[in-house]
Amino acid sequence: MSKVTVVGAGNVGATVAQYVAEKDLADVVLVDIVDGLPQGKALDMLEASPINIHDRNLTGSNDYADTKGSDIVVITAGIARKPGMNRDDLLKTNAKIVQDVAQQTVKHSPDAIFIVVTNPLDVMTYLTWKTTKLQPQKVIGMAGVLDSARFQTFIAMETGYSVEDVRAMVLGGHGDLMVPLTRFATVNGIPISELLSKDKINALVERTRDGGAEIVKYLKAGSAYYAPGASVSQMVEAILRDKNRLLPCAVYANGEYGLKDVYIGLPAVLGKGGLKKIVEIKLTSEEADALKQSATSIKENIDKMNELLVPAV
Ligand code: NAI
Ligand code: 2OP
Repeated sequence: MSKVTVVGAGNVGATVAQYVAEKDLADVVLVDIVDGLPQGKALDMLEASPINIHDRNLTGSNDYADTKGSDIVVITAGIARKPGMNRDDLLKTNAKIVQDVAQQTVKHSPDAIFIVVTNPLDVMTYLTWKTTKLQPQKVIGMAGVLDSARFQTFIAMETGYSVEDVRAMVLGGHGDLMVPLTRFATVNGIPISELLSKDKINALVERTRDGGAEIVKYLKAGSAYYAPGASVSQMVEAILRDKNRLLPCAVYANGEYGLKDVYIGLPAVLGKGGLKKIVEIKLTSEEADALKQSATSIKENIDKMNELLVPAV
């Protein structure tokens, strides 16, 4: 029986737990610092199991001992940026939380694969890798699956064709400098450039870049969680079922695409053991430049985190 620990029983964490159990992927342990929150949410989800028909166990805890022997650890613990808080404040606060969570969880599950969700995503994934001292293949960030799903949704909405036939990949960091690969976006193999005007495609790319902010604008307090939760569950499934899925994930680049010592969204093969390989495709010079620019920005933030978090990494 596989076991998935989800740290952070907030909006994203609880949604991940629900998808993982209801897709019949694994038993779930939900952990949070708030007493009663993970216990209450886990029990509530468990009580839905006779209706949604699965025998997966869901438990909540404030004690990391209960996470022992997890196959996958998902880190969603953190805070969202609050009014009056600058980006550095957020970086520092979430880095401290993620560092603590990574230390606690790896102690009890040294063989686990880590999927990081907390923002700023690429930097927090790097921090988790450094903190756990695991092989980089076992520490992966979730963002590209979400950004690509958003791009695919907008393509389906614009063309009127089923999402089933839409494929698209977004690389780069999770933020303003993400790199949607419009060249490879298709509706059942037909490039979207055959179906949509350049202006329309550019508008869809912009909407994808602002996808997170668009949801925040509606919700006002809090950010997206249904699509992020579904995205994590797709990665969990790929790993536990050894599916060899080719998904855009934040992975450690060690020379691939000319990038070094940085976590960034690249085409990754996920299966048993975590990251099996990074697939290198030939990019146009424009795409390669955008990816480099994105990596430079992530590296700057890693440096900033190192200054703020003395003497963490
Ligand atoms: P939330 O506020 O609903 O949940 C966060 C939870 O973390 C809270 O329940 C809080 O009590 C818990 N927490 C805080 N410190 C903790 C600690 N030291 N140990 C254990 N638990 C702790 O936030 P939400 O919406 O679930 O988002 C979580 C994170 O995921 C945020 O950083 C958000 O920006 C990020 N995110 C990233 C996405 C991506 O694509 N990578 C997509 C959506 C959200
Ligand atoms: C999102 O893209 C907040 O990163 C989060 O929705």
